[in-house]
Amino acid sequence: MQQYLELLNQAKEILQRNTITVTVNGKLYERIIPSKDFYVHQWLWDSAGVAMGLVHLHEEAAFNELLSLIVGQWNNGLIPHIIYNPGESKYYPPAEQWQTVGFTRDGIKTSGITDPPLLAIAAEYICDHASDEQKRRDFINTFLPSIMAYHDHLKCYRDPEDCGLLTIVHPWESGTDDSPRWDSLLNRIDLNMIPPDIKADVDLNRKDIKYQSSEERPTRADYYRYIYLINLFKDLAWDYTKILHETPFAVKDILFNSIWERANEALAALLQRYGNQEEANKYQRWAEQTQEALTNTWSEEYKQYCDIDVTQGRHQAIAVPTNGIFMPLYAGAVTDHQLDMLLHRLSNADEFYTGYPVPSTAINSRYFDKERYWRGPTWPITNYFIIEGLKTYRGRHHHADQLANLFMQKTIQMIRANGFWEYFDPLDDGTDDNAKGRGFSSFSWTAAIFIQLIKKTQHSK
Ligand code: GLC
Repeated sequence: MQQYLELLNQAKEILQRNTITVTVNGKLYERIIPSKDFYVHQWLWDSAGVAMGLVHLHEEAAFNELLSLIVGQWNNGLIPHIIYNPGESKYYPPAEQWQTVGFTRDGIKTSGITDPPLLAIAAEYICDHASDEQKRRDFINTFLPSIMAYHDHLKCYRDPEDCGLLTIVHPWESGTDDSPRWDSLLNRIDLNMIPPDIKADVDLNRKDIKYQSSEERPTRADYYRYIYLINLFKDLAWDYTKILHETPFAVKDILFNSIWERANEALAALLQRYGNQEEANKYQRWAEQTQEALTNTWSEEYKQYCDIDVTQGRHQAIAVPTNGIFMPLYAGAVTDHQLDMLLHRLSNADEFYTGYPVPSTAINSRYFDKERYWRGPTWPITNYFIIEGLKTYRGRHHHADQLANLFMQKTIQMIRANGFWEYFDPLDDGTDDNAKGRGFSSFSWTAAIFIQLIKKTQHSK
């Protein structure tokens, strides 16, 4: 612990520096943005993750982080993936691009899609770690109705077939924007069909590559398609029944759904403690349904769980070897046989066991690119879920526990050696003095995960 004191202080400073204050309807909110360099608004799953680290430093700030997120909730229950901060222009696309103002309250500007639904998980974690009973109760009273409305919205509009798996309609909803998992779907959107004004807008206004090497970011074609989808949904007036019907991108994402499973368990647990037993049973049933559905996405041919392309009536497995295939560990959806296979792949130096594991794409895959965003680099945020998932199985397989501890140490080491970057070179093994992290630096979620991991190593002693 002593050896990490300075780094813990740095993590704390990053969170402080990335905190901004906004006034909504005369009320003051503090919220933490992912990075001052580009991501200058509030992102749903980043904020939820950040709140989990923050509770170890400042309980009230952690509760407020989640409360400031639900301020952006739509009248129909959706909690969008970005809540825009007024007066900021560093990020593209701007708030106006989405045309969502009629859906939100108090004129708040948001995106129109969501993020992996980490909120209930964060709420449970914070309630478990906070000591002030009164603050916990106040938080729960405001938070529970909102989070139930959010889950109900997702279940109704994203799983109309009631199969247990939600459908995402934009790569940004997966949190893993340019993952090769999405290539086959995105390639269906013919670039020649994308209106010239969309391309011109992207070419002129895209900001990320102004601040950072384009080698580390999604391609121009990716961005044309991202913005094309947003415009399509906007034209459908954010009616999700129509959007699911018309979108060229509709997927049952295993990462998103693993978080959905765990989030319903968390919500059920919170309701059991603070709410109504019948409601708790409902979310617990949803969790069980999702767990089973995730188990069934396993492909024996590819030895992995598969996302399912459900675009316009399809039902086609997407078998790309990314770190997403380990997410069902987090959802407790793994059989003994599947566990053996996953542990094998995680320990394989030709696939996922690299200098700094776990790469976002297997290094022997033709899609692997060690620099580019979700196509190779190692991300602390996904490592966190894999570590937690492996811990769930420690009683079933001693190797699961060993790997969880190893990945925990390596993630700490990766941040210690390079700094609090957004993502990292997976092939670096700590011996290259010129190695550096990738993406944006002073990244909030990396700082928060560092705090959580140090706490965990303390407790496991
Ligand atoms: C990128 C990441 C996403 C994250 C966002 C803000 O879009 O892919 O996961 O939420 O940045 O940090």
